[in-house]
Amino acid sequence: MTEPTQTNPGLFLTFEGVDGAGKSTHVQWAKQYLCDRGVTVCLTREPGGTALGEQLRDLLLTEPMHLETETLLMFAARNEHLRTVIEPALAAGQWVVCDRFTDATFAYQGAGRALGRDRINQLAQWVHPGFEPNRTWLFDVPLEVARQRLSAAREPDRFEREQADFFKRTREGYMQCVKASPERFLTVDGTQSIERIREVLAADLDALLRRASKGRG
Ligand code: TMP
Repeated sequence: MTEPTQTNPGLFLTFEGVDGAGKSTHVQWAKQYLCDRGVTVCLTREPGGTALGEQLRDLLLTEPMHLETETLLMFAARNEHLRTVIEPALAAGQWVVCDRFTDATFAYQGAGRALGRDRINQLAQWVHPGFEPNRTWLFDVPLEVARQRLSAAREPDRFEREQADFFKRTREGYMQCVKASPERFLTVDGTQSIERIREVLAADLDALLRRASKGRG
């Protein structure tokens, strides 16, 4: 994990997982947990997080497009998000809690749609060289559980309509991300109760808070 520095004192925390893994329930909760402990939090999401990014999100979730176009639009939205929201917030000492980031591109476009990791690495190096989350919580559930949750939810978007094989590859793509940076990830068993998951997240957030206060002390 990258240590907070004088010029970049906030922490960048991300939530990841295949659709239906249950992460979204916990994103707002994590923000509140940190706010209650005196941290100023910027809560945001990808694709999205800016006016332009939200327009790109609408296109990405609804319009058929080539895989390369989809990948480039994810990074276009990300670039705008980084420059106008994430970097200024971190520089101001805020903690940024983000629902998905570049790991999602490795998992969905790289593995799910089989683009491979190399192209995405190139784009990541271009858009955010040397920058990665300080902590990523990967919500993991068996694919059948994710599928069941999705079928019970709202009208599916372009990604949620994909077949089981796509989600199997996407989940494996996330596992590859964990292998590539094991110290950054905490994998959360998304089949546990909401209360148990919150205990796990709270313990990890407490550790991050302790580390950040030592860094400043
Ligand atoms: P959400 O429903 O968690 O907000 O995410 C929207 C969809 O966008 C979800 O199906 C995953 C997909 N996605 C990608 O395919 N690549 C990416 O880089 C990101 C950030 C999201």
